[in-house]
Amino acid sequence: MLGRVGVFDSGLGGLTVARELASRFPGIDLRYLGDTARLPYGAKSEDTITRYAVRCVRHLVEQGVDAVVVACNTASACALPALRETWPALPVWGVVEPGARAAVAATRTGRIGVIGTERTVLSESYPRAILALAPRAQVAALACPLLVPLVEAGWVDHPVTRLTVETYLGELFARAPELDTLVLGCTHYPVLKGVIGEVAARLCGRPLALVDSAEAITEALAPQIVESDRGTGPRRFAVTDMPSSFARVAATFWPESLPEVSHVDLTMD
Ligand code: DGL
Repeated sequence: MLGRVGVFDSGLGGLTVARELASRFPGIDLRYLGDTARLPYGAKSEDTITRYAVRCVRHLVEQGVDAVVVACNTASACALPALRETWPALPVWGVVEPGARAAVAATRTGRIGVIGTERTVLSESYPRAILALAPRAQVAALACPLLVPLVEAGWVDHPVTRLTVETYLGELFARAPELDTLVLGCTHYPVLKGVIGEVAARLCGRPLALVDSAEAITEALAPQIVESDRGTGPRRFAVTDMPSSFARVAATFWPESLPEVSHVDLTMD
């Protein structure tokens, strides 16, 4: 059973996961760390992402967390083995396995699409996790690198974002026309759920089941979370850089006012 839970992301997108955890378990003792100084992870190499992730999780371990949720899909895809090897006694969860499980539960046809960053798609971690659960499934994955900067710019309900989503999903459906489930394999995509759902339904002529990794990991952790019985649990948010756009970007992911956020300077040795 877990008391204090650390949530780690490459930046602020992981707030989608922290927010889901906090709303489902209001008493949870939460420590969030967003590596905004090194965002984005999605276009970087596996070695670099792993090095950053180990350093960030070390910071959370120093904060006394009992477990770590790697909210970042890219870090989940690349760094889990190194994190588990570095802290063998610490439960470390990524979002890929719960997302894969939710997709397998949702699909009727076994045709599953996955969208994510370049590194997440190159890692093939989602297809591997899905096929381990459902060997007859067919998985089509597509990198959608432009969606992260669009969400960070706050262009959620915006014609450029809609056109970009149409272009990406058009490419995905051309390759795999019979998809019935789509995994939103990036922290930023749940913010675009409305647009993605609408465009997908229009392009396919039927609604698609959308898998949100924030919901999937929260569901998977439910049996293990211990909440304080004194109302809202303690929450601390830290980031490794506070750019001028910080407040606006944070509000995209946590629209109810986010509690105070501190800055930590992490050297990367
Ligand atoms: N957090 C990353 C993910 O979920 C997206 C942003 C980035 O590229 O760092 O894959």
